Amino acid sequence: MQPKQAIVKSYHDGTKHSYHSVLVNPNYVDPSTQPLSFKFYPHFYRRLNLDINNPIHKFIWLTSTITCEKNYQNSPYQLRVNPSAGGLYPTEIYVQIRGIENIIDGIYHLEVANNSLSLIYELIDDGLENYITPGKCINGFIFLISCVYYRSSWKYQNRSWRYCCLDSGHHLGAIAASAYVHNRKVQLIFDFDKLALNSDLGFENKEFVTACAIAGEFQDKQIRSLRLKVPFVCGTDYFEANQFIEDAYQVTAVQPSSHKELEFPVYDFEQERFFQAIWRRRSIRRFHKQPISQVDYLRILREAEKPVPAEHFEEIEIFSVIHRVDDMAPGLYKGSSLIKEGDFCDKVGYLCVNQAIARDSAVTLFLVSTYQNYQTAMQIAGFIGHRVYLISNYLGIGCSGIGAFYDDETQEFLGTDKDVLYSIVIGK
Ligand SMILES: Cc1cc2nc3c(=O)[nH]c(=O)nc-3n(C[C@H](O)[C@H](O)[C@H](O)COP(=O)(O)O)c2cc1C
Repeated sequence: MQPKQAIVKSYHDGTKHSYHSVLVNPNYVDPSTQPLSFKFYPHFYRRLNLDINNPIHKFIWLTSTITCEKNYQNSPYQLRVNPSAGGLYPTEIYVQIRGIENIIDGIYHLEVANNSLSLIYELIDDGLENYITPGKCINGFIFLISCVYYRSSWKYQNRSWRYCCLDSGHHLGAIAASAYVHNRKVQLIFDFDKLALNSDLGFENKEFVTACAIAGEFQDKQIRSLRLKVPFVCGTDYFEANQFIEDAYQVTAVQPSSHKELEFPVYDFEQERFFQAIWRRRSIRRFHKQPISQVDYLRILREAEKPVPAEHFEEIEIFSVIHRVDDMAPGLYKGSSLIKEGDFCDKVGYLCVNQAIARDSAVTLFLVSTYQNYQTAMQIAGFIGHRVYLISNYLGIGCSGIGAFYDDETQEFLGTDKDVLYSIVIGK
């Protein structure tokens, strides 16, 4: 292993859970100290209220909007189109809009709390392109995802490094899903000059760019970097630095990812029904131990394995532990090949830190990888996880991401030397 690879891997290894680590550090926090999970730019920035009767506004709105309000201990809290570990929502969205009728060319912050865009930067001969696709001009939309990491590290400490990346991948999935129902194509970009962007967007050490999704036309044209810096605005009401996360981010922000040819997935969902799946998507909290059909299970797997529309890429392998699928032997599968037959319900429930949903599911999936770039690999795992959520919900099957598992024991159970990045449960 190259010395640099060893450093990158140390940011995965340094966040491993074990039976012992969870016992001594169960992540209890006082909920009243939760930092703000919505970012607001000051009132003097011009606002554009998103009107869902306008298809362009609706495309942007559906990437991030609040879809449900609940109460916990007499305090209301909101859930969104994108899932998030612990419902802490560290991710923010910025969108550069260029060449769209009736919208000023500029960089906007999506203010999720108010369904509006704040114009934080007006374009002249400059823009985000020079950081992301130098020599090209994008007519259309460049979405940037960033993480206000303290929202998650407040509770999950160093392990939140993983959750920031996975949540970011889910948010990319939400952008891709909105693009699909609005007949637009998106391309994901993971390798670009993130550090320069963090500086020019005024993020200091409190927020960092993780990925980009482009929905627009590429034109050969030089666009210069932002001529002015955007002032710093904090995404939380208070902040505590976490050096581990800042280092993990910095190291993985500059490492090249693996490469593949750009290929777009082809879906054949009924669009209105798919829109409803996005709108109603939720994480399942309890299963009734009902089986799912083999047809549905194989469809979910097939859709999850469709191409990820990115050139910078990391290969993800999917293991399935089948507990309850009609006409399929329970056991551990790699893709669709059975590698170990048996009833592993209790074992997998235990591995996922004794979470009943991993025991009572129809299938518990594990996403593993050996990667060049960890930040990219984790985001692709989150992106695939988002697909699994939406396809399951589309088919009337429940789903939840599982970020908490005993790493080494899970790896041993799967019989792989690849890192276990994410787990997802599906069932009824
Ligand atoms: C990266 C990630 C990890 C998660 N880990 C767990 C988990 O270990 N256990 C669990 O019950 N839910 C888990 N969830 C589900 C979140 O708790 C859920 O997304 C959040 O509460 C918001 O609810 P919603 O998905 O219904 O909108 C996870 C979600 C994500 C995106």
